[in-house]
Amino acid sequence: MAETFRTDDWDRYRMQYEQPYRELEPLDSEIQVVGQALAALQRAGVLPHTRYDRAKMLAHRQAVRELFEIPWTAITPRMQRLLYAINAIARPENMIAAGVFCGFTFISNAGAAVGPGACYAAGQLIGVEIQPEEAERAERNVRRIDPTGVARVVAADAVEVLAGFQEPIHLLYLDADGAGGRGKDVYLDILQAGWDRMAPGSLVLAHNSVNCAEDLGRYLGFVRDGRRFRASVNVVFDPEGLEVSAK
Ligand SMILES: C[S@@+](CC[C@H](N)C(=O)[O-])C[C@H]1O[C@@H](n2cnc3c(N)ncnc32)[C@H](O)[C@@H]1O
Repeated sequence: MAETFRTDDWDRYRMQYEQPYRELEPLDSEIQVVGQALAALQRAGVLPHTRYDRAKMLAHRQAVRELFEIPWTAITPRMQRLLYAINAIARPENMIAAGVFCGFTFISNAGAAVGPGACYAAGQLIGVEIQPEEAERAERNVRRIDPTGVARVVAADAVEVLAGFQEPIHLLYLDADGAGGRGKDVYLDILQAGWDRMAPGSLVLAHNSVNCAEDLGRYLGFVRDGRRFRASVNVVFDPEGLEVSAK
């Protein structure tokens, strides 16, 4: 079933893309809003519960702040917390993030399993970035937080990486801005390339479900079709949005 979780202030809660660490609201308010979003995901049957370790989340945030080079990002503090919490709750053994740019979105997901925010042991956490120089920077950033190599970034086309991945995919995060004028429409190609390795219960998170909704028409139609996904929730608490779908 397709649903929407929307806050009253989603359109006023805005960040400056060049200031990733600027506080946009008191921490309590951020925790409360993200808690409400998690509760909506639980009600929809996407998540089994809403509990995550808030101190570990802050340790993760602090490490990223100290160690990552981030030229710009559209990931708001609410979104960073939500991505971390979804991964901390769902505990995906294998997670692939497509279109990771400098690695911030990737580590917001992977940080639940590596670095000071780690709360479970993962198998493979792979960030995919098609621009080699961006992939290099993302890999450099990730290595500073996770010396183990469980989380790693590869320079490649996410469609090809998904098509060639031989193991089950438990969580797929989509943020690629397709080359060749396709924009965000590439999300559906990436999802379909990994589809048959996603068992019931797998999660797909799609950034920009609000500000790129038009470009994402084909994708959103696919994940909101109850014959393919048992639940899909559009989380609208900032101007970008996140569509969270459970197979
Ligand atoms: C807009 S950025 C994501 C930024 C992220 N939303 C943030 O705020 O930090 C999208 C990235 O996807 C990459 N990309 C585009 N097509 C891709 C593909 N097919 N496979 C992997 N990466 C891709 C682009 O090079 C770009 O770095």
